[in-house]
Amino acid sequence: TRVAIVFGGRSPEHGISCVSAGSVLGALDPDEFEIVPVGITRQGQWVLASGDPAQLAIADRKLPEVTAGSGAELVLRADPTAGGLMVLDPAQGPRALADVDVVFPVLHGAYGEDGTIQGMLEMADIPYVGANVFASAAAMDKEFTKKLCAAEGIPVGPYVVLRTGMTLTEEDKERLGLPVFVKPSRAGSSFGITKIDDWSQLDAAVATAREIDTKVLVEGAIVGREIECGVLEGEAGGAPEASVLAEVRMVGDRDWYDFEAKYLYADEVTECDVPAGLPEAVTRRVQEYATRAFTALDCSGLARVDFFVTPDLDVYLNEINTMPGFTPTSMFPRMWAASGLEYPKLVNRLIRTALR
Ligand code: DAL
Ligand code: MG
Repeated sequence: TRVAIVFGGRSPEHGISCVSAGSVLGALDPDEFEIVPVGITRQGQWVLASGDPAQLAIADRKLPEVTAGSGAELVLRADPTAGGLMVLDPAQGPRALADVDVVFPVLHGAYGEDGTIQGMLEMADIPYVGANVFASAAAMDKEFTKKLCAAEGIPVGPYVVLRTGMTLTEEDKERLGLPVFVKPSRAGSSFGITKIDDWSQLDAAVATAREIDTKVLVEGAIVGREIECGVLEGEAGGAPEASVLAEVRMVGDRDWYDFEAKYLYADEVTECDVPAGLPEAVTRRVQEYATRAFTALDCSGLARVDFFVTPDLDVYLNEINTMPGFTPTSMFPRMWAASGLEYPKLVNRLIRTALR
């Protein structure tokens, strides 16, 4: 089976994608898979990258990057009548991604996790790992994630959507209370998010979020534990399956689970319990909400669904990630390992599911 691992990309999560891809590349059995590593630069140029996982790791708290010099420049042509997505390497002669059986877009954020590359692969008629166009776009956008999940009876916290030119009214502020999280509606890895404790900080926080997305969400902070659940598409058309849960706890004085805590200082400032220490009934409720959310958004393949659980054991959905991090500190593969599916088996299952 020939698999194209596509990583990097134009979103701010470029570096995280590289680290995720490094882990995936390291987990693929070379006897079973022939790998075509395709890097996308921050500018959007595709290159035939090195598939060496060692070059795709965090070193000295710096994230790796695909650059134009990382490999031969590839030219793309999507043409189902010519066998699919043609990825041509002008220097080496044509190298067709059409010969690839499946694409694993290990891409986070815009142009990777939001339905755009999925649309290109649909047009080229190539199977790919993960959510389809609609589910990717819906899950990327925190507004629509909440609306679709709430419509299915999954509790979500209070929020206000600020489209271009809008700001909070006094009633909004009253309803949300403080603190609030100000977020770009379509982003990941906590990019562009500010927690504010005073309304005087609102304008600056909205401006920061708008650097990433014109649409901004202001969410009332939910005091509670950060609980995550992995979901996999059921095997042979069965119902989606939920992993054991994980809890991410901040240690020391870092206030919330921001980008640095997630990746650069994860070893110092976070502790993870897998499985999370929650009562059985709450665990089951979270797992049930996670699979319901997966279905509500029409997801396929995989997703990580993130929740808050309050001291009263109320559960609120925070968001859904259709291509969750696969880095060594990422929760998705750790939750599945704790559920009995080790990393190589997990990656194998994802690819098999895409080919079904
Ligand atoms: N957006 C990051 C990669 C995650 O959800 O894991
Ligand atoms: Mg996310």
